[in-house]
Amino acid sequence: MADLLDAGERLGRDELAALQRERLRATLRHAYENVPFYRKSFDDAGVRPEDLRALEDLARFPFTTKADLRDNYPFGMFAVDRSEVRRIHASSGTTGLPTVVGYTERDLDTWADVVARALRAAGVRRGHTVHVAYGYGLFTGGLGAHYGAERLGCTVVPASGGMTARQVRLILDFRPEAIMVTPSYMLTLLDEFERQGVDPRSTSLKVGVFGAEPWTEAMRREIEDRFALDAVDIYGLSEVMGPGVAQECVETKDGLHVFEDHFLPEIVDPVTGDVLPDGERGELVFTSLTKEAMPVVRYRTRDLSRLLPGTARTFRRMEKVTGRSDDMVILRGVNLFPTQIEELVLRTPYVAPHFELRLTREGRMDALTVRTEARAGATADQRAEAGRLLADAVKDGIGVTVRVEVAAPHTLERSAGKIRRVVDLRDAPGS
Ligand code: DLL
Repeated sequence: MADLLDAGERLGRDELAALQRERLRATLRHAYENVPFYRKSFDDAGVRPEDLRALEDLARFPFTTKADLRDNYPFGMFAVDRSEVRRIHASSGTTGLPTVVGYTERDLDTWADVVARALRAAGVRRGHTVHVAYGYGLFTGGLGAHYGAERLGCTVVPASGGMTARQVRLILDFRPEAIMVTPSYMLTLLDEFERQGVDPRSTSLKVGVFGAEPWTEAMRREIEDRFALDAVDIYGLSEVMGPGVAQECVETKDGLHVFEDHFLPEIVDPVTGDVLPDGERGELVFTSLTKEAMPVVRYRTRDLSRLLPGTARTFRRMEKVTGRSDDMVILRGVNLFPTQIEELVLRTPYVAPHFELRLTREGRMDALTVRTEARAGATADQRAEAGRLLADAVKDGIGVTVRVEVAAPHTLERSAGKIRRVVDLRDAPGS
C-alpha cells in the first residue's frame, strides 16, 4: 500500500501545513508581483502578501470570481511571460466570453502528477489500459486525463467524446481496465451496449473515474450494478487546473480527497463570504499553491460541498458536490438541486436513469416539470404509476409540487459530455 503513495500523500498534517504556508506565501507574492488584477485587488483590500503569517490569514485576502477572469480576457490573469505558456485551455461558458487558462511546462508536469495520483487512488495501475471519453480540446477533461494516465504508465485510448457506437467497439476490442468519462455519458454508453446486444457487465472495465458534473450515490449504485465496475468520483475545474483537484479513493468511496499540497480549499458562506469551519456546507473556494502561469487566489467555484477529515489519505476530503449555486432552482421558496431529483428518479420503478427539469411560468407562479423516461417494456399502467410515485416522492422528500412526465423509452436527449439538467423556459414566449 505504502508504495502506492507519492511524497505529497505521505506528509503528516503538520508537515503539510508547513508546506502549504510556504507555498501560499510564494503564490501570493507571485500573483501580487505579476498580475495587475491581484495587485489592485490586494491593494483595494489593504493586504500585502507579507501579511500572511498563518494559513488562517488567507481569509483577509479578497476573493476572485469568474467575472474577474472574464474581465481580464484573454490573458490578463497570466503571471508569466507569454513565451513561458505551453498550453491554453478554455471553458465554454454558457454566456459570453470563455474563461481562458494557461499552463507553464511545470504546471503541465504538476497536472499530470496529480491526475496520475488520482488514478492510483481510483485503483488504476501502471500497465492498465485507460479509455478516455472526456472531450479533447479546449475542455480540460480529455487532455488532463490523458497525460495523467500516461504519467502513471498506462496505455491511453484517446477516444474523446461522441461517436457512441465506435466507443463501444473500442471498449470491446481494446479491453481497457478503466474508463474516464462523465457519468451522464456513461449512461449513453450503457444504452449503446444494450442496443448492440452486449451485456455491459461482461466488459473488461473494472473501474470508472467519473466527474465534470454532479452525480449522486444513487447514480453510483446504478452504474456499478449495470456495468459491474467500481465507480469513483474525480473533481476539478479549469480555473484551478482541470481534473485532478480532488479524487475519491476506491477502497473507501467516501468523498474526494483534496490534493491539498497543490490546492488549498476553503468553504465559505455563499452569501456573506465568511469562512465556515470544516464540516459545514457552503461554497468551495480554492487557492492554487504551485501554479505558475495562472495562480488563483480564493477562487469562488460556486460548487457546494463541505470539508471532512481524511480517511484513506491524510488530505481532507470534500463531500461529493451537491450542485452549483447556479443550478439551484428556487421553486415557490424551496431550494432544489438537480441531484436531489436524481436520487428520487433512480429510486422510482419503471423509469430509466434519465431526466430533465423544465422550468416554466404559469401566471405569476413558477412551475417545474420533471421529465423522465420509461424503462423499455414498462406498460402504460406502470408508466402512470411511476409518474405518481415520483411526484409523491418529490413532494415528500423536497416539499414542492412538481409535474412529472414519463416519456416513452429512448426519447429524452442523451448526454454527449456534460449534461444540462435544467431547461429554463420562464422567459420563453408562450410559457
Ligand atoms: O469539468 C474538469 C473536469 C474534467 C473534472 C473531467 C473532472 C473530470 P470545467 O469545465 O471548468 O472543468 O468545469 C468545472 O464542473 O466547477 C463543477 O461545477 C463541475 N464538476 C467538475 N467535477 C465535478 C464532480 C472540468 N466530480 C465545473 N462533481 C466545476 C460535481 C463537478 N461537479
